[in-house]
Amino acid sequence: MSIVNNQIEFKELALKIFTRNKKKRIFCLYGGLGAGKTTFTQAIAKALKIEGTVTSPTFNIIKQYKIQSSKIDYKNLYHIDCYRLEDEKEILNLGFRELVEDKASLLIIEWADKINKILPKKRIDVYIKILDNFKREIIVK
Ligand SMILES: Nc1ncnc2c1ncn2[C@@H]1O[C@H](COP(=O)(O)OP(=O)(O)OP(=O)(O)O)[C@@H](O)[C@H]1O
Ligand SMILES: [Mg+2]
Repeated sequence: MSIVNNQIEFKELALKIFTRNKKKRIFCLYGGLGAGKTTFTQAIAKALKIEGTVTSPTFNIIKQYKIQSSKIDYKNLYHIDCYRLEDEKEILNLGFRELVEDKASLLIIEWADKINKILPKKRIDVYIKILDNFKREIIVK
Protein backbone atom coordinates (compact mmCIF):
# COMPACT_ATOMS: atom_id res chain seq x y z
CA MET A 1 0.00 0.00 0.00
CA SER A 2 1.27 3.47 -0.90
CA ILE A 3 -0.04 6.95 -0.33
CA VAL A 4 0.76 9.82 -2.67
CA ASN A 5 0.15 13.48 -1.92
CA ASN A 6 -0.33 14.87 -5.40
CA GLN A 7 -0.58 14.06 -9.07
CA ILE A 8 3.17 14.24 -9.70
CA GLU A 9 3.87 11.62 -7.02
CA PHE A 10 0.99 9.57 -8.36
CA LYS A 11 2.43 9.54 -11.88
CA GLU A 12 5.86 8.59 -10.58
CA LEU A 13 4.33 5.70 -8.68
CA ALA A 14 2.33 4.65 -11.75
CA LEU A 15 5.59 4.37 -13.70
CA LYS A 16 7.23 2.33 -10.96
CA ILE A 17 4.28 -0.04 -10.83
CA PHE A 18 4.41 -0.38 -14.60
CA THR A 19 8.17 -0.96 -14.74
CA ARG A 20 8.03 -3.63 -12.06
CA ASN A 21 5.14 -5.50 -13.62
CA LYS A 22 5.26 -4.87 -17.34
CA LYS A 23 5.81 -8.53 -18.19
CA LYS A 24 2.28 -9.25 -16.96
CA ARG A 25 0.96 -7.15 -19.87
CA ILE A 26 -2.53 -6.60 -18.49
CA PHE A 27 -3.13 -3.78 -15.99
CA CYS A 28 -6.53 -3.60 -14.33
CA LEU A 29 -7.44 -0.31 -12.64
CA TYR A 30 -10.10 0.04 -9.97
CA GLY A 31 -11.39 3.15 -8.20
CA GLY A 32 -14.28 5.59 -8.26
CA LEU A 33 -14.91 8.51 -10.59
CA GLY A 34 -11.90 10.82 -10.68
CA ALA A 35 -9.68 8.46 -8.70
CA GLY A 36 -6.89 8.68 -11.28
CA LYS A 37 -7.26 5.72 -13.62
CA THR A 38 -6.87 7.81 -16.79
CA THR A 39 -4.04 9.78 -15.17
CA PHE A 40 -2.28 6.48 -14.41
CA THR A 41 -2.66 5.46 -18.06
CA GLN A 42 -1.36 8.82 -19.29
CA ALA A 43 1.79 8.49 -17.18
CA ILE A 44 2.56 5.14 -18.80
CA ALA A 45 1.64 6.39 -22.28
CA LYS A 46 4.12 9.24 -21.89
CA ALA A 47 6.89 6.85 -20.89
CA LEU A 48 6.08 4.70 -23.92
CA LYS A 49 6.47 7.78 -26.14
CA ILE A 50 2.93 7.57 -27.39
CA GLU A 51 2.21 10.57 -29.58
CA GLY A 52 -0.72 12.84 -28.92
CA THR A 53 -2.96 12.87 -25.90
CA VAL A 54 -4.40 9.80 -24.31
CA THR A 55 -7.96 10.67 -23.39
CA SER A 56 -10.65 8.70 -21.66
CA PRO A 57 -11.99 5.95 -23.91
CA THR A 58 -15.38 5.93 -22.17
CA PHE A 59 -17.44 6.37 -25.34
CA ASN A 60 -15.31 4.17 -27.58
CA ILE A 61 -14.59 1.55 -24.89
CA ILE A 62 -11.30 0.56 -26.56
CA LYS A 63 -8.67 2.95 -27.88
CA GLN A 64 -5.52 1.76 -29.62
CA TYR A 65 -2.18 3.59 -29.61
CA LYS A 66 1.04 2.70 -31.39
CA ILE A 67 4.01 2.36 -29.04
CA GLN A 68 6.99 4.28 -30.41
CA SER A 69 9.54 3.42 -27.75
CA SER A 70 12.20 0.98 -28.89
CA LYS A 71 12.90 0.03 -25.27
CA ILE A 72 9.64 -1.81 -24.96
CA ASP A 73 8.59 -5.13 -26.46
CA TYR A 74 4.96 -4.19 -27.02
CA LYS A 75 3.72 -2.67 -30.27
CA ASN A 76 0.35 -1.38 -29.15
CA LEU A 77 -1.29 0.03 -26.09
CA TYR A 78 -4.98 -0.71 -25.75
CA HIS A 79 -6.66 1.65 -23.30
CA ILE A 80 -9.98 0.15 -22.30
CA ASP A 81 -12.78 1.74 -20.27
CA CYS A 82 -15.50 -0.61 -19.03
CA TYR A 83 -17.56 2.06 -17.28
CA ARG A 84 -20.42 2.00 -19.77
CA LEU A 85 -20.56 -1.74 -20.31
CA GLU A 86 -23.79 -3.47 -19.34
CA ASP A 87 -22.18 -6.88 -19.39
CA GLU A 88 -19.16 -8.77 -20.67
CA LYS A 89 -20.72 -9.63 -24.01
CA GLU A 90 -20.18 -6.20 -25.50
CA ILE A 91 -16.44 -6.22 -24.93
CA LEU A 92 -16.12 -9.83 -26.05
CA ASN A 93 -17.73 -8.72 -29.31
CA LEU A 94 -15.07 -6.03 -29.62
CA GLY A 95 -12.37 -8.72 -29.64
CA PHE A 96 -11.33 -8.64 -25.99
CA ARG A 97 -10.17 -12.27 -25.94
CA GLU A 98 -7.93 -11.72 -28.94
CA LEU A 99 -6.32 -8.72 -27.24
CA VAL A 100 -5.74 -10.75 -24.07
CA GLU A 101 -3.94 -13.38 -26.16
CA ASP A 102 -1.93 -10.88 -28.21
CA LYS A 103 1.61 -10.85 -26.82
CA ALA A 104 2.42 -7.64 -28.72
CA SER A 105 -0.22 -5.66 -26.90
CA LEU A 106 -0.25 -3.94 -23.56
CA LEU A 107 -3.69 -3.58 -22.00
CA ILE A 108 -4.76 -1.00 -19.43
CA ILE A 109 -8.33 -1.49 -18.29
CA GLU A 110 -10.32 1.13 -16.36
CA TRP A 111 -13.31 -0.10 -14.31
CA ALA A 112 -12.02 -3.65 -14.71
CA ASP A 113 -14.43 -4.80 -11.98
CA LYS A 114 -17.18 -4.57 -14.62
CA ILE A 115 -15.63 -7.47 -16.54
CA ASN A 116 -14.37 -9.38 -13.55
CA LYS A 117 -15.73 -12.68 -14.88
CA ILE A 118 -13.61 -12.64 -18.04
CA LEU A 119 -10.34 -11.17 -16.74
CA PRO A 120 -7.34 -13.44 -17.22
CA LYS A 121 -5.55 -14.74 -14.12
CA LYS A 122 -2.24 -13.33 -15.29
CA ARG A 123 -2.70 -9.63 -14.69
CA ILE A 124 -1.90 -6.78 -12.32
CA ASP A 125 -4.64 -5.24 -10.21
CA VAL A 126 -4.23 -1.62 -9.12
CA TYR A 127 -6.73 -0.21 -6.62
CA ILE A 128 -6.86 3.60 -6.34
CA LYS A 129 -8.72 5.27 -3.48
CA ILE A 130 -9.41 8.98 -3.10
CA LEU A 131 -8.29 10.19 0.34
CA ASP A 132 -8.83 13.88 -0.39
CA ASN A 133 -8.62 16.24 -3.39
CA PHE A 134 -4.97 15.42 -3.97
CA LYS A 135 -4.13 12.38 -1.86
CA ARG A 136 -4.55 8.87 -3.18
CA GLU A 137 -4.02 5.44 -1.69
CA ILE A 138 -2.75 2.79 -4.11
CA ILE A 139 -2.78 -0.92 -3.59
CA VAL A 140 -1.19 -3.31 -6.09
CA LYS A 141 -2.16 -6.97 -6.12
N1 LIG B 1 -2.76 12.48 -6.49
C1 LIG B 1 -3.53 12.48 -7.58
N2 LIG B 1 -3.47 11.45 -8.44
C2 LIG B 1 -4.23 11.42 -9.54
N3 LIG B 1 -5.11 12.38 -9.89
C3 LIG B 1 -5.21 13.43 -9.07
C4 LIG B 1 -4.43 13.53 -7.90
N4 LIG B 1 -4.76 14.66 -7.28
C5 LIG B 1 -5.68 15.25 -8.03
N5 LIG B 1 -5.96 14.53 -9.12
C6 LIG B 1 -6.99 14.89 -10.12
O1 LIG B 1 -7.96 13.86 -10.10
C7 LIG B 1 -8.48 13.67 -11.38
C8 LIG B 1 -8.30 12.22 -11.80
O2 LIG B 1 -8.99 12.06 -13.01
P1 LIG B 1 -8.89 10.79 -13.92
O3 LIG B 1 -9.59 11.13 -15.19
O4 LIG B 1 -7.50 10.30 -14.02
O5 LIG B 1 -9.77 9.76 -13.07
P2 LIG B 1 -10.43 8.39 -13.53
O6 LIG B 1 -10.22 7.44 -12.41
O7 LIG B 1 -9.95 8.00 -14.87
O8 LIG B 1 -11.97 8.79 -13.58
P3 LIG B 1 -13.15 8.12 -14.45
O9 LIG B 1 -13.71 7.03 -13.61
O10 LIG B 1 -14.12 9.25 -14.63
O11 LIG B 1 -12.59 7.62 -15.73
C9 LIG B 1 -7.75 14.62 -12.32
O12 LIG B 1 -8.54 15.76 -12.49
C10 LIG B 1 -6.48 14.95 -11.54
O13 LIG B 1 -6.00 16.22 -11.84
MG1 LIG C 1 -10.91 7.56 -16.66
